[in-house]
Amino acid sequence: MMTTAKTIVITGANTGIGLATAETFIKDGHHVIIACRNPDKARTAQQHLQSFGTGQVDVIALDLNSLEQINSAADEIIAKYEKIDVLVNNAGMMTPDLEATADGFEKQFGVNYLGPFLWTMKLLPLVKKADQGRVINLASMMHILGSIKPESFKADHIQKYNGVISYGNSKLANLLFSNALATQLQGSNVTSNALHPGGVDSEIYRELPKWQYAIIKLGLIPPSKPAELIKKIAFDPSWAKRNGDYVSLQTPAFKSGKAKNQKLAQQLYDQSLDLVKNYL
Ligand SMILES: NC(=O)c1ccc[n+]([C@@H]2O[C@H](COP(=O)([O-])OP(=O)(O)OC[C@H]3O[C@@H](n4cnc5c(N)ncnc54)[C@H](OP(=O)(O)O)[C@@H]3O)[C@@H](O)[C@H]2O)c1
Repeated sequence: MMTTAKTIVITGANTGIGLATAETFIKDGHHVIIACRNPDKARTAQQHLQSFGTGQVDVIALDLNSLEQINSAADEIIAKYEKIDVLVNNAGMMTPDLEATADGFEKQFGVNYLGPFLWTMKLLPLVKKADQGRVINLASMMHILGSIKPESFKADHIQKYNGVISYGNSKLANLLFSNALATQLQGSNVTSNALHPGGVDSEIYRELPKWQYAIIKLGLIPPSKPAELIKKIAFDPSWAKRNGDYVSLQTPAFKSGKAKNQKLAQQLYDQSLDLVKNYL
């Protein structure tokens, strides 16, 4: 049990890595706000987390599929809470099919990257109110497959779609944003870091054929492992000054050339600001 409870916002915390992370923080007596899209799943997660009888657990409805909904969910947080010590951008999805968000963006780009971009930009002033604010971004080693193609941000502009590449694009965007933010935050009380959580046994593989999942499962680690790493990034003194870092479980933290490209990071940041400008 911690002496000072911190306020921690985790997206997609009803299952997988997000839920395991919430569990770790709750067991230490922190105040955890779980931002989830499905109210029933969110309530079940809240009850589960409350069963530890330690920290406070609040629920915010957040659907990263819609910029308007993200905007109102962030406004709800801003109205209710004074500060955020740790913002964990965890929610994410994979789909083999070409789909569009409510705003017409390719779904993996929209849900995994652009939505969390708006969410983070809206909540950043609250993170800055913490003594030592932390933004922690769930990227992936799959970013090595990715590239940034503004002409493919919108679903109806895509001619040839590959779900795995598109997931890689969204995860590269997560990493570039984490870096661009870190650059801007230099010298402030807030850091921005990213991680590859390892191959984790979660629901993200739900769309895979059963036989493929059976093979992949053999190499997967439990969500409690990345949850421990996220806690370390949030509170371990060894992370106090680390900013713009990328770490990885299971595999070396290899960053692609594109992920190291600060100019690309800044370009994507500027393009993203323009895409969400109606909400900022
Ligand atoms: N598992 C891995 O091996 C792995 C590897 C590398 C990176 N990652 C990254 O780790 C993060 C967590 O993944 P996970 O493995 O824990 O996956 P998961 O078990 O599928 O959990 C994903 C969470 O994101 C939520 N989510 C999906 N779409 C959303 C939307 N439109 N709005 C709000 N929330 C939404 C899900 O909500 P519902 O329950 O309602 O669907 C769920 O809570 C993701 O960013 C993923 O890309 C995972």
